Amino acid sequence: MTRTLPPVRLHINDRFDPSDAYGDAQRAVIGPDARIQARETITAWPGYAPTPLIELKGLAEYCGIDRLWLKHEGKRFHLKSFKALGGAYAVQRLLGEKAGGDAGDLTVCCATDGNHGKAVAWGAQQAGIRCVIYLHAHVSQGREDAIAAFGAEIKRVDGTYDDSVRQAAADAETNGWTVVSDTSWDGYTEIPSWVMQGYTVMVAEIMEQLGPERPTHLFVQGGVGGLPAAVIAPFWADWGAERPRPIVVEPHAADCLYQSAVAGRLAEAEGNLETLMACLSAGEASPLAWQILDHGTAAFMTMDDDFVRQAMTALAEGHGADPKLVVGESGSAGTAALLAMKDQAEHRAALGLDAGARVLVIASEGATDPEIYHQVVGQTPETVGEAA
Ligand SMILES: Cc1ncc(COP(=O)(O)O)c(C=O)c1O
Repeated sequence: MTRTLPPVRLHINDRFDPSDAYGDAQRAVIGPDARIQARETITAWPGYAPTPLIELKGLAEYCGIDRLWLKHEGKRFHLKSFKALGGAYAVQRLLGEKAGGDAGDLTVCCATDGNHGKAVAWGAQQAGIRCVIYLHAHVSQGREDAIAAFGAEIKRVDGTYDDSVRQAAADAETNGWTVVSDTSWDGYTEIPSWVMQGYTVMVAEIMEQLGPERPTHLFVQGGVGGLPAAVIAPFWADWGAERPRPIVVEPHAADCLYQSAVAGRLAEAEGNLETLMACLSAGEASPLAWQILDHGTAAFMTMDDDFVRQAMTALAEGHGADPKLVVGESGSAGTAALLAMKDQAEHRAALGLDAGARVLVIASEGATDPEIYHQVVGQTPETVGEAA
């Protein structure tokens, strides 16, 4: 069945109250000590450096807002996505738990749309342990090659991302492997909580980089919800009512977070999961992430893939004096959402997205599949000429 949808759908979350405190349910997933531990561990990794927070004055003016900051995760280690912070950190935590046991016997596995699997493979390679990565039918060859380059064994699964999650879990059970997943399910929460705790290092950097500035709005994209939950949690815990209003962004085709918000409980995506934003192609939300998103998200929106093409091109060209930036398909979704709002007067009013708005977007990946990037933008990542 084809669904005819408007270019943008917006759902204002009536369970969000800016004056609500960050509570026990949220702290159980991402607590203050867990954030400190993740930061101490990850900042000690060789090659660690904070990724840049870039102000885009030209694009802000074009979008009719006051300020726009973009956190550029394309610069995250050599993996080019924020996912490096989660998967590799969880592998390291797992090895820590096994200290005293024989970690060499450990095999880790997971399903992925691309970036999480690369992070787990990277962590496993550094630890010298075996890694098996499950890819669903729509993961591109470029992304498979990038994961295999970290020494992982690849298994292809017919079907969707969610099918590959189930296959990885079933094979792990049969073979005695450990699943290092970025999504959670009933009875499986500890490892995905480590993954999300690793992501929070990005927010610690943002808070330092912002100094005294306070964004009013945050556009952050979600797949299973781990990224938005990990970005929302530290702002909520540390800034309380002063935190930016979070708007969680998904493709029309993979709208499990939007549908969960509308239903008021975890619900599956209604779209067919086919989207250019390949890393957001999740049909089922992570229950652990939902523990934060349910009350922590001011609004949920979904949009056409076309806005992502516009955003990738706009970032590559640079508006006015803005720098040229290489941001991938899923990475551009937050910026695309802001562009999508440009002509949506009613939605803008509902969000308070006016000329005084100060917006933070998370560019969660660089050109993690250079061939697809080239097809969309019409230039290779190299010819865009992003400043190093
Ligand atoms: C680049 C990028 N952005 C956003 C996401 C969404 O993250 P999550 O599924 O944790 O919500 C992913 C997930 O793989 C990703 O790779």
